Amino acid sequence: MRYIGVLALLTVLASAIWPIPSSYTSGNTILWIGSDVKVLYNGGNEVGSITYQIEPQLCSNNVTTGSHITSQIVQFAIQKTYSTIFEKNFVPWKFHPRNSAFEPSNEKEKQKFITSIKLDQLAADPPNIQRPLAGDVDESYTLSLTEAGEATITANSSIGLVRGLTTFTQLFFKHSKAGVYTTLAPVQISDSPKFPHRGLNMDVSRNYFPVKDIKRTIDAMAYNKFNRLHLHVTDSQSWPLEIPALPLLASQGAYEASLTYTPSDLKELQFYCAVQGIELIVEIDMPGHTASIWFGYPELISAFNIQPNWATYSAEPPSGTLKLNSTAVDHFLETLFKDLLPRVKPYSAYFHTGGDEVNLNAYTLDETVKSKDPAVLQPLMQKFVDRNHNQIRAAGLTPIVWEEMLLTWNLTLGNDVVVQTWMSDQAVADTVAKGHKALVGNYNYWYLDCGHGQWLDFYHSTSSQYYPYTDYCSPLHNWRLMYSYDPLQGIPPSQAHLVLGGEAHIWAEQTDVVNLDRMVWPRACAAAEVLWSGAKDAEGKNRSQVEASPRLGEMRERLVSRGVGAECVQMVFCTQNGTMCAL
Ligand SMILES: *[C@@H]1O[C@H](CO)[C@@H](O)[C@H](O)[C@H]1NC(C)=O
Ligand SMILES: *[C@@H]1O[C@H](CO)[C@@H](O)[C@H](O)[C@H]1NC(C)=O
Ligand SMILES: *[C@@H]1O[C@H](CO)[C@@H](O)[C@H](O)[C@H]1NC(C)=O
Ligand SMILES: *[C@@H]1O[C@H](CO)[C@@H](O)[C@H](O)[C@H]1NC(C)=O
Ligand SMILES: *[C@@H]1O[C@H](CO)[C@@H](O)[C@H](O)[C@H]1NC(C)=O
Ligand SMILES: *[C@@H]1O[C@H](CO)[C@@H](O)[C@H](O)[C@H]1NC(C)=O
Repeated sequence: MRYIGVLALLTVLASAIWPIPSSYTSGNTILWIGSDVKVLYNGGNEVGSITYQIEPQLCSNNVTTGSHITSQIVQFAIQKTYSTIFEKNFVPWKFHPRNSAFEPSNEKEKQKFITSIKLDQLAADPPNIQRPLAGDVDESYTLSLTEAGEATITANSSIGLVRGLTTFTQLFFKHSKAGVYTTLAPVQISDSPKFPHRGLNMDVSRNYFPVKDIKRTIDAMAYNKFNRLHLHVTDSQSWPLEIPALPLLASQGAYEASLTYTPSDLKELQFYCAVQGIELIVEIDMPGHTASIWFGYPELISAFNIQPNWATYSAEPPSGTLKLNSTAVDHFLETLFKDLLPRVKPYSAYFHTGGDEVNLNAYTLDETVKSKDPAVLQPLMQKFVDRNHNQIRAAGLTPIVWEEMLLTWNLTLGNDVVVQTWMSDQAVADTVAKGHKALVGNYNYWYLDCGHGQWLDFYHSTSSQYYPYTDYCSPLHNWRLMYSYDPLQGIPPSQAHLVLGGEAHIWAEQTDVVNLDRMVWPRACAAAEVLWSGAKDAEGKNRSQVEASPRLGEMRERLVSRGVGAECVQMVFCTQNGTMCAL
């Protein structure tokens, strides 16, 4: 059913899908969708023949694993599509000129409804669908919606269907009177990600985040087609992760007795990620960033909380590092990994051992070393990392390290090791030049915590030196800056395949549950689009912020209606006409 009179006014929203698909055409036909729409999964196809009817209560958050993962992924996606379209949708008045009659008539006799959503999975899922290495899962999909009201999503994996359904939800708007409609039929989309690793790194040590808030973050990630949640789960300030074999870690090292993640919390998060095509990667940062171990196991840590001149021994208070030449530390790590890695493995191919910001001075106070000479420390670090990586490999996992292990410490790392860069574009180029797989996330672009000012307090004697108290990575990286970051900048085409993707980072010195959503969203959406769609458009030009801005504005409204407290992108004057605020 066409509403010729309103066509011109609807063009503002004509391509508001975030991240932008590789190929996308749409029309101007209005179709409604009812909550009784039939969803058919592989009707009679080789993968199985299950017919799902959308029902709000279809999928509880029951944590189970095993061979049913494909059907759990599909069921969860259908349930989420239902709640997103019918329960968490929005009236798009902010994206139409003021005083305009932008909504289609919702007179019953004029409404034409979508009749069915067919989900066709063309191949069986790989057995490691919930714990893939980069590139193991085909996330591509096609989506078609005919003017007659037939929707079809095809994909080679269940996760491809999840991505396609996520796009599908973005075609629909709530009507202010009643009902849900799209103005965009017919739609034809063919889409696949530019990078296989599209992550958010979340620090849950500097401040504690309840499981339900992490789950909300996971939902927001899934709406943006992120596929990796990197949980920076321990650091010097607190150790919230319960390790049953080493009970004092969390019982003494958490900020407060209740602020921990139990094994079942971890499993719940892993599963909640897995059913949405997100792999939860656990990082235990070491040997630096470990002072919180001291509270339970003081004999393992040197240079603990040196005051007041902590800055000589670490980047942040409290100072403290795992001793580097200690059999007690080796035994501790062996026990820690033996407990944790088997719990990581069902849901991840990776384990991240950190390795950033190791402070040499801290080893002058380490009685097993008593030196800050890199020539003395380097072989010990090599041994330390080799021991860890051997145990990780033996557990069937692939190690990830921060760039310093390769580029500052010059360690010899296995070819399998993924190197996470953060300090510069040069670090990415240096990593791939050595033949290693790299993750990007230059702190000058993709650190979401920057620009909030110092969290340190300054005595009168140092105050003037730090005035006006900006932080080290100030200013705040707005979405436009994040959007301008190209992971492949300066990378020779022959090495581009080694750039697996990257991560946006939310460090938590000044982030807690109160401001989490607005610290991350919608700015992380910019990283999500760069990672899914690439930093350049089909003609090889940098993507345009003028084109992206109204789409991001709409994505922000969708996030808010889905319960995510994302910051405002622009005032309504700008969004009511997509080009009035361009310069
Ligand atoms: C999850 O479902 C399984 C199988 O239906 C059941 O045995 C188990 O008790 C449920 N677990 C929870 C936590 O509800
Ligand atoms: C939107 O802006 C364009 C460019 O200035 C203008 O031609 C058009 O009339 C505006 N539309 C509305 C509805 O304000
Ligand atoms: C599925 O796999 C085939 C063969 O590799 C490929 O041509 C196609 O683009 C993939 N994606 C979809 C959605 O069919
Ligand atoms: C490391 O410890 C061993 C055993 O205690 C000791 O023999 C060796 O000298 C230490 N290495 C360094 C560099 O201090
Ligand atoms: C690593 O190599 C660089 C360049 O050769 C050198 O400057 C640095 O001191 C080395 N680091 C260590 C810990 O040996
Ligand atoms: C495109 O973006 C890159 C950064 O990725 C920048 O160096 C370059 O100047 C931009 N080109 C144009 C034409 O804006």
